[in-house]
Amino acid sequence: NKYKIRQIGPDTKVFGIVGNPVSHSKSPIVQNQAFRSVGFNAVFLPFLSDDLAKFLSTFSAPDYAGFSCTMPHKETAVRCCDDLDPIARDIGAINTIIRRADGKLVGYNTDYFGAISAIEDGIRASQSTDSTTSPLAGRLFVVIGAGGAGKALAYGAKAKGAKIVIANRTFGICFLELLLNQFNLITAQIKVFTLRGQTFPARAEELANIIGGSALTLSELENYHPEEGMVLANATSVGMHPNVDETPLSKHALKSYAVVFDAVFVPRETRLLREAAACGATVIDGLEMLIRLVIVQFKLFTGGMTAPECLMREAILTKT
Ligand code: ATR
Repeated sequence: NKYKIRQIGPDTKVFGIVGNPVSHSKSPIVQNQAFRSVGFNAVFLPFLSDDLAKFLSTFSAPDYAGFSCTMPHKETAVRCCDDLDPIARDIGAINTIIRRADGKLVGYNTDYFGAISAIEDGIRASQSTDSTTSPLAGRLFVVIGAGGAGKALAYGAKAKGAKIVIANRTFGICFLELLLNQFNLITAQIKVFTLRGQTFPARAEELANIIGGSALTLSELENYHPEEGMVLANATSVGMHPNVDETPLSKHALKSYAVVFDAVFVPRETRLLREAAACGATVIDGLEMLIRLVIVQFKLFTGGMTAPECLMREAILTKT
């Protein structure tokens, strides 16, 4: 009833969002309304799962026609697909899986388009310009987070000509160093040196190397003010419900940013965005990204049908 599904028959295709958590997801409400409005015989359901590979092998019948994948699956999902869209391959993370007619699973990334177009439109609106040149070109673009969403943002901003900085809590060999510092055991030291010998790239450095940017720790980012007019994008879950008092960067560190984007969309106005707005930055929220990325997903799910964009925007912005 919540999803307003009308009729399910033998020909109804099944789509869904897979992740943990999924209860906050707006995708079932949006996609079911959109499917209904264009007469596409399909349903879209939330699937709570920590094991994507197991999930996909269980739901392998042709009727399970496609999935949106969310935290924590965006990177592991790459290995679960038989084929990847070229951009998804470059990003190294996907958020959409489509089952082709031959049964093969193809991975796509619609996060990158959703986030970057939301940021570009937000900047253009604040500058009252509709220039076709990307407002990200030449700007310093700082991404916090090096998971699936961080990869998509870094890739997208780089493609628009931005200079990229990645900041992540996992940096260097900090986990192993922590182990060494905390326990100071001979066995731990041996383990650290063994792994050090093999070079163990941490997420921020690894992503910065792939994209062509630089990496920082979160504490370095607190005092990072190389230039004015920078763009900041939070691609972590910090600040997400129920931890609404958390923020990935303290208020004093926000002063050099002209634009701040938060991929978190529950709540829509995160502490990061509130504090950035108070510092005078243009703020862009995760719902703007979501609207754009689910519209592209709809087109993939339906094999190219025109998305009812106004209806989908309204469904996402309506409080449920
Ligand atoms: P997604 O696919 O949505 O990007 P993910 O791959 O699990 O999700 O990545 C989550 C990102 O948020 C990671 O960069 C993670 O940092 P680590 O690489 O160190 O795990 C970051 N993250 C999650 N919780 C965090 C927290 N409490 N503080 C700082 N960063 C956090």
